Amino acid sequence: MTMRALVTGGAGFIGSHLVDKLVAEGYDVVALDDLSTGRYRNIRHLLDNNHFEFVTASVLDAPRVDAEVARADVVYHLAAAVGVQLIVDRPLQSLITNIKGTENVLDAAQKHRKKIMLTSTSEIYGKSQNGPFKEDDDRLLGSPRKLRWSYSTSKAVDEILAFVYYKELGLPTIVVRLFNTIGPRQVGQYGMVVPRFITQALHGEPLRVYGDGRQSRSFTSVFDVVAAMVRTMEVPEAEGEVFNVASHEEIAIRELAELVIQRTGSPSSITYVPFEEVYGESFEDMSRRAADTTKLERFTGFRCETTLPDTVDEMIKYARESLRNP
Ligand SMILES: NC(=O)c1ccc[n+]([C@@H]2O[C@H](COP(=O)([O-])OP(=O)(O)OC[C@H]3O[C@@H](n4cnc5c(N)ncnc54)[C@H](O)[C@@H]3O)[C@@H](O)[C@H]2O)c1
Repeated sequence: MTMRALVTGGAGFIGSHLVDKLVAEGYDVVALDDLSTGRYRNIRHLLDNNHFEFVTASVLDAPRVDAEVARADVVYHLAAAVGVQLIVDRPLQSLITNIKGTENVLDAAQKHRKKIMLTSTSEIYGKSQNGPFKEDDDRLLGSPRKLRWSYSTSKAVDEILAFVYYKELGLPTIVVRLFNTIGPRQVGQYGMVVPRFITQALHGEPLRVYGDGRQSRSFTSVFDVVAAMVRTMEVPEAEGEVFNVASHEEIAIRELAELVIQRTGSPSSITYVPFEEVYGESFEDMSRRAADTTKLERFTGFRCETTLPDTVDEMIKYARESLRNP
């Protein structure tokens, strides 16, 4: 019997790669997406494939979610308002999507007893500087009046819901905490730094580094991320657990800008822009955010190994193709 997977947010950046991976592994896949930040072009190449179906719907449409979960064997829930900038720009709708939407998907999974994976975020750790973070580490957040922290909080509510459905109701749930994930199909308009730098470099514009550029991040290839997700879903011991999914390489943002300029061969320069100018007064950011991924390795044997220059090259190739065929 072919397994059927439901992927919410399946037309998004990570969701569409997950769909590709599941189809390649022999699943029948249904992608459910309202195309708010996802794009039809991300899944267009699959529309003639008998093992793929696309449903345009919102996770806020509970009856529709219920019907699609009922038809699936496993559920990957990725639909969300993603990233700090989007949440700061549209806080109310974002919170409703991230909390009520997740509740709908979990409710349906519980009703039909379907195994479900939720995608959380490294934003969970807030502004704590005590990395590399382990899954059980404390969180350190700013005031709820600072909308910057509402993304973190909405995803924390999702995590708690997943944990409680597992603990109280015995629903097999797994949470993956993704750190900055990058790759082809990611767009820069919601503040994602690597695609934004690549677009600026390809247009010969200055690369706008926020702050002094010494803050460091680890960037993980989307191909590693979706492989880790599928692998983790196959491990029974992973049920009820939460896993960091991240690469081990760290890079300062200004070095990232230099890398993009070098790999694109662009004449662009680098300019430094204060955070407040981009995100408004009293924005808070952290100088480092690194993951401890020993738990993922212990449970699954999986490690994110793709190097940053390789992923940046893939993204540049994709961006150049997109400029030729918008
Ligand atoms: N990209 C990252 O670095 C990163 C890091 C941590 C966590 N995540 C998580 O991974 C998941 C996927 O993120 P992404 O980077 O692919 O972003 P994305 O914006 O490309 O994907 C989100 C998808 O959800 C869809 N969506 C939004 N609201 C919806 C709704 N109400 N109903 C149905 N679909 C809806 C969007 O149209 C989009 O296709 C999210 O849950 C996000 O929080 C991403």
